[in-house]
Amino acid sequence: MIKGFIFDLDGVITDTAELHYEAWKSLADEMGWKFDRDVNDKLRGISRMDSIKVILDHNKTALEESKLEELATKKNDIYVASLDHMTPEDYLPGAKELLTHLRAEGFSVALGSASKNAIKVLQQLNANGYFDVIGDGNSVSKSKPAPDIFLYGSEKMSLQPDECIVFEDAESGIDAAKAGGFHSVGIGPEDRLGHADLRFDTMAEATLFEVKAHFKELFS
Ligand code: BG6
Ligand code: MG
Repeated sequence: MIKGFIFDLDGVITDTAELHYEAWKSLADEMGWKFDRDVNDKLRGISRMDSIKVILDHNKTALEESKLEELATKKNDIYVASLDHMTPEDYLPGAKELLTHLRAEGFSVALGSASKNAIKVLQQLNANGYFDVIGDGNSVSKSKPAPDIFLYGSEKMSLQPDECIVFEDAESGIDAAKAGGFHSVGIGPEDRLGHADLRFDTMAEATLFEVKAHFKELFS
């Protein structure tokens, strides 16, 4: 029986994936690194430090850890400054409607994000009220594809993983949901999220009606 939902933030609730892209691109341009949207797609769901390592691998470059941290901080400063322009108008189409519907029907709802900036993003969106539990990049040490962030959410909601549906836009996020024994909904293209239990191209199609229709034996 489904009693709870766990949402990734970046790329599911709001399009911060684009802001992350712009911040990494700005750092990459300054450093003379190659970086494009295909590489950016590989950063979905993974931590800041893992992300910079993926970018350096792509450029066949290695730097010492302290330099990596300095550059990742520089990217983060650009990203955080860009969040100042985010407003409650910046939900992805359908996200606010789904969260409102889940609240109205009394489901438990958790955030399960790898981001250390999740609280700031929720504040900008005025979204705190939709969540019973906030799991972010500060809540656990092992990031996706490890299931830890989702297990943190289900535990805080006092639910078993198989009582929860995870919403994710990242390949590593669906891997994490599966590793933890959660049901999963992918938001994005088949080539990235074909392994999710259910997939929608965008959040606009991911209504509670559609989700219940797909998982119907789990809602009765
Ligand atoms: C995830 C994003 O939600 O958070 C990743 O999908 C990002 O792209 C990760 O790297 C960490 O975010 P932050 O805000 O802590 O740098
Ligand atoms: Mg995401």
